[in-house]
Amino acid sequence: MRKRTPLIVGNWKMNKTRAQTLDYLNKFVKGVSGIASREIGVAPPFTSLVTASDALKGSNVKLCAQNVHWDESGQYTGEISPSMLKDYNVEYAIIGHSERRKFFGETNDSVNKRVKGALKSGLKVILCVGETKEERESGKTQNVVKSHLIGGLDGIGVQDLLKSIVIAYEPVWAIGTGLNATVEQAVEVHQFIRTTLDSIYGAGTSDKIRILYGGSVKPENIDGFMATADIDGALVGGASLEAESFTRIVDFKEV
Ligand code: 13P
Repeated sequence: MRKRTPLIVGNWKMNKTRAQTLDYLNKFVKGVSGIASREIGVAPPFTSLVTASDALKGSNVKLCAQNVHWDESGQYTGEISPSMLKDYNVEYAIIGHSERRKFFGETNDSVNKRVKGALKSGLKVILCVGETKEERESGKTQNVVKSHLIGGLDGIGVQDLLKSIVIAYEPVWAIGTGLNATVEQAVEVHQFIRTTLDSIYGAGTSDKIRILYGGSVKPENIDGFMATADIDGALVGGASLEAESFTRIVDFKEV
């Protein structure tokens, strides 16, 4: 018996036009319509949110965004505010993805501001944490993950944490490489995340927090990840781009 409802989210990154979005969602929504007791989400690029929002109406698939700004409006060229996302019924915003940190200068500080802005508007957050290959090889995995957690959650109270935050552990070296973490490697860090959350928020808190794994999740490895008590779901990139393969991931088998 699982302690927490699994959450599986497809992060499309910079992929799909409106027509491709519609074509995909028509298939995907049908394919997963019978799946219960699991939360399912897709995070299309901002330009597809309108199309996706319409296509997902009445379905069991939630709309997610790949990022969100901290302010409601203002002089922030290229950014999208929490209320703009709420306007399309976006439920979750992914924040602090390693690609944002690596290519677009996101820091723990900007990540934390985005988390606070999202919560203020009633958006839920998928907060991404994870180490690079060099950091892992030099024994810094725990330090990096801890700093992402402490930095990203600075000033966030336990009520908000429990109500609105999901953590995604995404080792950077496993993203888009086809080289997923082993189940043991993922579980080790998930357990470290739980210990860290308990030390910040009090013993037992992490029992109520979902922690997803992300990094080369595919139909072939999802069942193994989901067979462990500490992994509550997945944040899926490449394998979420085909409706058929993402359907199989969402429809993971309990082993
Ligand atoms: P891949 O599944 O393509 O490795 O990407 C993972 C990811 O970055 C999800 O946010």
